[in-house]
Amino acid sequence: MKRTDLADSFVTAVTDFDINTASLGEIRALQELVYERKVVAVKNQALTREGYQQFAACFGELEQFKLKSYHDPAYPNILVINNRNGAGAVGARKLGNMWHSDSSYLAEPLPLTMLHARQLPETGGDTLFVDMQSVYDDLPRELYERVRNRQAVHDVRWTYKVKEDDVGESIQEIFSRLEQHFPASTHPTVAVHPRTGRESLYVNPGYTTRISGYAQEQSRALLDELTAFALTPERIFHYRWEPNDLLIWDNRSVWHCATELPREAERVMYRIGVNDGEFFARDAGQEHVA
Ligand code: SIN
Repeated sequence: MKRTDLADSFVTAVTDFDINTASLGEIRALQELVYERKVVAVKNQALTREGYQQFAACFGELEQFKLKSYHDPAYPNILVINNRNGAGAVGARKLGNMWHSDSSYLAEPLPLTMLHARQLPETGGDTLFVDMQSVYDDLPRELYERVRNRQAVHDVRWTYKVKEDDVGESIQEIFSRLEQHFPASTHPTVAVHPRTGRESLYVNPGYTTRISGYAQEQSRALLDELTAFALTPERIFHYRWEPNDLLIWDNRSVWHCATELPREAERVMYRIGVNDGEFFARDAGQEHVA
């Protein structure tokens, strides 16, 4: 396994690694690299869906989908993202086009996400990342004091986009169905990584609706300030996909965002979510250095 770091604090590309033949020891080393570097691109992986699932299962338990729709019918743990869906093609046309951490709205959020590039457009379709451990480390004292030792509410309805499956239902019906399947969850504003002990800011623009202990307006202003602090151009890493890339990222440590594509572009991605054990090590509230 050869590693090349693509940015200072996170994102590493791995070459000379074949998922189909890797030993369990090699896969464990890759998993450790994911915890250390937060986003890892395993280059040039020609994968069958079977092989992909088997590989992912070495990292933990595969995500089960609560709602029908976008998974591969033959491989229910593989979520298909296909911007030319419809007319019989499986997949979600738009998924994750806002800054978020996957499934933070669940009581047990998803720790790891894997995304394999099956088909890519000539240009565009990048995935963007921000290192939320660095954001946390760099928080000015005043912002840190306002966010530490708090809880935040995460709700899927905050940025929910109506989908083909929802057609025929009123907004109220859609929302009450979502609430039934995905009631809002509360999590600490600072996540401590169970494997590395590193802390990250754990609120995100996609799903976090409020921070506890503040009036609604104050909470909104604080969330907007945190977002503005995190999303400066120098913090945003643009991942430019190449065919057969497999990206693995740690949702405890990064935000990500899919980018817009024209309808005629062809981009097909296979996503597998993995639960590698506990999401949070413990509540934070440590002394801060910035
Ligand atoms: C996601 O948010 O899981 C999808 C990201 C992408 O398609 O670039």
